[in-house]
Amino acid sequence: MPSTGHRSSWSNRWTFMLATAGSAIGLGNIWKLPYMIGVNGGSAFVLVFLACIVVAGIPLMMCEIMLGRRAQRNPVDGMQALAHEAHAPTAWKWVGVSGLFAGLLILSFYSIIAGWVLDYIVRAASGQFHGIDGATAKKYFNDFLAAPLELLFWHTLFIFMTLGVVARGVNAGLEKANKILMPTLLAILMVLIGYSMAAGDFARSAHFMFAPDFSKVTPVAVLSALGHAFFSLSLGMGAVMVYGSYLQRHVSIARTSIYVALVDTGVGLLVGLAIFSLVFANGLEPAAGPGLIFQTLPIAFGRMPGGDMIGTLFFVLVAFAAWTSAISLVEPAIAWLTENTSLTRKQSAWLIGITDWLLGIAVLLSFNKWQDVHLLFGLGIFDTLDKLTSTIMLPLGGLAMAIFAGWVMRANHVQEELGLANATYQLWRLTIRYIAPLAIVAIFAYLTGLIK
Ligand code: PHE
Repeated sequence: MPSTGHRSSWSNRWTFMLATAGSAIGLGNIWKLPYMIGVNGGSAFVLVFLACIVVAGIPLMMCEIMLGRRAQRNPVDGMQALAHEAHAPTAWKWVGVSGLFAGLLILSFYSIIAGWVLDYIVRAASGQFHGIDGATAKKYFNDFLAAPLELLFWHTLFIFMTLGVVARGVNAGLEKANKILMPTLLAILMVLIGYSMAAGDFARSAHFMFAPDFSKVTPVAVLSALGHAFFSLSLGMGAVMVYGSYLQRHVSIARTSIYVALVDTGVGLLVGLAIFSLVFANGLEPAAGPGLIFQTLPIAFGRMPGGDMIGTLFFVLVAFAAWTSAISLVEPAIAWLTENTSLTRKQSAWLIGITDWLLGIAVLLSFNKWQDVHLLFGLGIFDTLDKLTSTIMLPLGGLAMAIFAGWVMRANHVQEELGLANATYQLWRLTIRYIAPLAIVAIFAYLTGLIK
């Protein structure tokens, strides 16, 4: 593969790992995974989710990093160059194009939820949760959603935070932000776990999450766990590919993927343990759904000694996690713009920032003034974007990448880039050619049934 001239790269393998973990750990782990565990009956869902991470998640993460590093380009030009190398149609670049748009679409609603989190930092810090009950917590949340200007304020701030980092480039922006935010995030997480072990009902939480009860493993739980494994590991849209394109040649892709998957899953499970400890100790409902962290946890924070502090720390943790993920959502588009147009990184960041800011306005209005606007499948704007990206575009992108790496690229190129011993390579190849694609096709079968 010919080189593309000077290109930024991560300072070392740790910064790459931090950044990839930063991308993976986000609202998906802290906001979505716990409520999905709660809604899907606890331990059964956890076990299936873990199996999906091992069977499809890790092999696909290796695949995406491999594609990025071999191409040394943004996902669009990267897929095109790799297709050229394999004498395959250059139409494969559309996998990159679709990923780039998926990233922009995801950020438009991701930024709104991250905005809720920013608002809840202020609420927790100002003691607003003291002694509130379920009805009050719900009212706070609903009143907030009904106030477009407030939502707009936080959305604007989050877009500035995200593009502000990306504008500074790989080393001074992405790498530095992850170096500061990720260790802080892990430290806050430890404090929260320690606290919930001491003050919450940790034993019951652990039992709820880990005592295996296979009677609850339904087909729906299996497939939604698989879909969430993609979202949680940031797979299928080129974020991991573009991060891989900044990776030096000597770093082991397999080891990095396994570490990132372990940290991502570990954080999700630890946050879940902390949340359910507080939920059970306060007699709250584990199956509360998407409102879990916004409507349930404030009640627990309002009751506990030191709850203002713990609540503030919790929402800061979520904000940091969302921030490091959001950066990776726009990086494919920014890399494409800077490598293909005369725009500088800063100008590209403005362009993408404004685009996503406008898209986000449509999303935030869908919680109030445009509540009755329905797009695809009769869903509102927020739900349409969520479904379209996480359940259609990402799995489709993952499927295409698996097929490309497993069936289109030359096997010796793939093996050379992955640097795996033969037996491990054969195992990976088997997964990427058959197991992962079949699993993704199964998601689609489920989805078409769901959406109809
Ligand atoms: N993995 C992120 C999360 O769990 C979301 C994400 C998806 C980020 C796809 C980048 C790409 O919140």
